Amino acid sequence: MTDSQLKEDKNMGTEMGTEIGTEVKQADNASGIIESGQPVFQAKDFNLWYADNHALQNINLTFSENEISAIIGPSGCGKSTFIKALNRMVELVPIVRTEGHILYRGDNIFDKKMTVEELRTKVGMVFQNPNPFPKSIYDNVAYGARVHGIKKKKILDQIVEKSLRGAAIWDEVKDRLNQNAYGLSGGQQQRVCIARALAIEPDVILMDEPTSALDPISTTKIEDLIQQLSKDYSIVVVTHNMQQAARVSDKTAFFYQGYVVEHDDTSAIFENPKDKRTEDYVSGRFG
Ligand SMILES: Nc1ncnc2c1ncn2[C@@H]1O[C@H](COP(=O)(O)OP(=O)(O)O)[C@@H](O)[C@H]1O
Ligand SMILES: [Mg+2]
Repeated sequence: MTDSQLKEDKNMGTEMGTEIGTEVKQADNASGIIESGQPVFQAKDFNLWYADNHALQNINLTFSENEISAIIGPSGCGKSTFIKALNRMVELVPIVRTEGHILYRGDNIFDKKMTVEELRTKVGMVFQNPNPFPKSIYDNVAYGARVHGIKKKKILDQIVEKSLRGAAIWDEVKDRLNQNAYGLSGGQQQRVCIARALAIEPDVILMDEPTSALDPISTTKIEDLIQQLSKDYSIVVVTHNMQQAARVSDKTAFFYQGYVVEHDDTSAIFENPKDKRTEDYVSGRFG
């Protein structure tokens, strides 16, 4: 089974669809619009508060189809908050209040018409620390399909194999599918978590510092996998590892103190940043 079979029905858009924020503190992006596929997520004047902490300020940001978008920035600048807003996980925090819009393929995710369940079947998430369920490898990956009512063993077997292959871990676990996922190494657990996310056939995969708990070899495997997956999925990856952003992403957004300072092609962010703060950050002057 090939990766493209994993997601064969993706419609590949070719329209331009990216805009950059209008907030005064944000970068002047007069040099032009970023060319890319159909917008997948568009934040429009999005603001978020934890009680009176204004954690995200006038975010205007578009992530496009089949693109790897990196979010970089120093600790506490709102990276996790923003990525968790994209699948509405922020709602789990009672003191959170939001203003503005986040559109997923044109629909406001906070609209009553959109259920969290519907959104999360389209938007998968992988976390900083691998968090498999205390179940077998097979049951971890089959979990989402079972929740959606799939019971036939043959179909579940297919989903599990396809997803584990898609997460580049099939060969390592195919003979131990019934063993507990906790017995795997951290890097393997993270790939099982990625397989679990793939099994629901998402459109977008969000990753919040997916390698920060992993050793260098496992990190390389996940970075290779991210690039492989981007052929079939749109990916948003938060990282405070700038080399990682430079290695894997097409576009990079630099967050600072709750603002998007600059969003551009990754090469531009690292080699030719427009904003002094971006330049200082990517050259390691603070972090
Ligand atoms: N669950 C929470 N409750 C209250 N404040 C939070 C919570 N999560 C994050 N914050 C605050 O929001 C700001 C952004 O945090 P976060 O999104 O975690 O940043 P980053 O991921 O860039 O390190 C920080 O000021 C942080 O203290
Ligand atoms: Mg974080």
